[in-house]
Amino acid sequence: MWRLIFLSGILATIVQAAIITSPRHGTQDWYETAIFYQIYPRSFKDSDGDGIGDIQGIISKLEHLKEIGVGGTWLSPIFESPMKDFGYDISNFYAIQKEYGTMEDAVLLFQKAKELDIKIILDFVPNHSSDQCEWFIKSAANDSVYRDYYVWHEGIVVDGVPRPPNNWNSVFYGSAWTWHDQRKAFYLHQFDKSQPDLNFRHQPVVDEMKNVLRFWMDKGASGFRVDAVNHLFEVEDFRDEPIDNEGDPLDYGYTKKDYTKDLDEVYDMIYQWREVMDQYQAEHGGETRIMMSEAYANETFTMKYYQSPDGSRQGSHMPFNFVLINELYEGSPASDFKKVIDARINALPSGRKTNWVIGNHDQARVGSRYGPEKIDALLTLVMTLPGIAVTYNGEEIGMVDYRYGILFNETVDPQACNAYPDGPVDDGWIWKSRDPVRTPFQWDDSENAGFCECGTNRTWLPVNSNYKKLNLELQKSWRKSTFNYYKELSELRQDDTMKEGGYESFVVNEVFAFTRTVEGHDPRLVLINLGDTEQVIDVTKLTHIFSDKLRVLVAGSETSHEKGDILNANDVYLRKYNAIVVESFSEIPSESSAESLTLSLSLLIVALPV
Ligand code: NOJ
Ligand code: MG
Repeated sequence: MWRLIFLSGILATIVQAAIITSPRHGTQDWYETAIFYQIYPRSFKDSDGDGIGDIQGIISKLEHLKEIGVGGTWLSPIFESPMKDFGYDISNFYAIQKEYGTMEDAVLLFQKAKELDIKIILDFVPNHSSDQCEWFIKSAANDSVYRDYYVWHEGIVVDGVPRPPNNWNSVFYGSAWTWHDQRKAFYLHQFDKSQPDLNFRHQPVVDEMKNVLRFWMDKGASGFRVDAVNHLFEVEDFRDEPIDNEGDPLDYGYTKKDYTKDLDEVYDMIYQWREVMDQYQAEHGGETRIMMSEAYANETFTMKYYQSPDGSRQGSHMPFNFVLINELYEGSPASDFKKVIDARINALPSGRKTNWVIGNHDQARVGSRYGPEKIDALLTLVMTLPGIAVTYNGEEIGMVDYRYGILFNETVDPQACNAYPDGPVDDGWIWKSRDPVRTPFQWDDSENAGFCECGTNRTWLPVNSNYKKLNLELQKSWRKSTFNYYKELSELRQDDTMKEGGYESFVVNEVFAFTRTVEGHDPRLVLINLGDTEQVIDVTKLTHIFSDKLRVLVAGSETSHEKGDILNANDVYLRKYNAIVVESFSEIPSESSAESLTLSLSLLIVALPV
């Protein structure tokens, strides 16, 4: 049996990478090598027992972020909001939502985080406000200052009845136009009808939103995650979108998005915001304030966020890279991983970094999308590929979706509710809903998973019923847990090889492998078995840069290897879904390995029976 596996390893097809990114030395800004951690404030930690997470809750858990090596954390919106889209419908861009705390709490959070050298990034939601925002209320009333703050259209009158001006649909289902009786016109909303789109062709709106940026930087924010930015502009003549997909004409996917998404004006606005941030930096000093931009867009469009085509204007520091969510799936072969990942790295403007994202509050959790057995494999990718690592709260303990645990009448996400106004006619809502990925963080096995002491109050979303077996406290006590593995990966990221090293990738059967190399340090090799069969890899056939022996630096919880194991480079055994990182090992002990040898010897002596 062993021999067979061994042979299949040797005969395996090896696809070698054509790319090697060259290492960079010591020129990295803080964000380029950081781990960014997304907190969904409503679900992270509740301090006051109302069943809703809050800012004081976040403050009480900052040590957790420190422990896992987070450099920056971005918070989903904490601003005043009627919560139709859980904070992505802002009624006052300059105020904190009461149930989350006060302005003093927010400032305290900035300060406390700073003491731990963690940067706080806020969510900036420029595309729309809430319909409860004073600007919208005044705009609807034709107020002379606010009249053009939103996108209004009188519609097309058919048989005496005004109809929406075109076939544009909302992301959350149905027409993107809603009639407003007071204004006697339709207003545009790319998302829920409670989220009217702001009019970025109107200079006062542009100025206002720049003020919002300055206001929060003054309070202490280290940057912004810019929401839904590719929806900012639509064509001025409101022409119909071409039909893409026969089917339900009210579905967002029914039309192509040639005229309502990814318009050139979007990038100009991004470059303008960057100017505001750079100018702020120049005037106030301190470390780089960063912009992370959210756009589900193809590679060409995503690259435009970094800088203008001639490089003369700078844009987003971190256009989110969603390839691990949108282009790779549970069944993707290792060769697709290589193709997609290499393409993204190669597409980057010179000297710029990408970031690796496997989940957020809008997407199925990684363990639910790729399968729970692959969580460590995917975490390995995110934490060891060149660039920035992004973690969605709960990923570090391998939380999974509570997909079938939340009933329709408990569902609150407008994306699911809007499509089923008369109740569930089929189970499509289960997949539309984002509630299952937003359930409270599972801290421990006490009531409500340690998220809150709610008494008779209920948590805003049910806690996943698996929390007694899957929680942080338990994982801390269990050596081979996802959490402890995550911490090891985080520590591994701290050195020059992972921060600055070059990258070259390979595929052997279902194993995706890549090197991380920097001059003067032992080369590293990351090996990830994405397949469901065991594999034996002859590393000497992939590349000649490794010595005959390899030392295991980290090993995922699915592995049979231990940190410190010495392996023969020509037969590295990997269980299914197994991920390990190894480096060259030479027999002549270096200073640090001599130390660990002494340590192991002394442990041996202690272990000897007396
Ligand atoms: C993207 C956000 O991530 C999502 O949660 C929200 O519903 C939409 N933008 C609208 O703001
Ligand atoms: Mg609370």
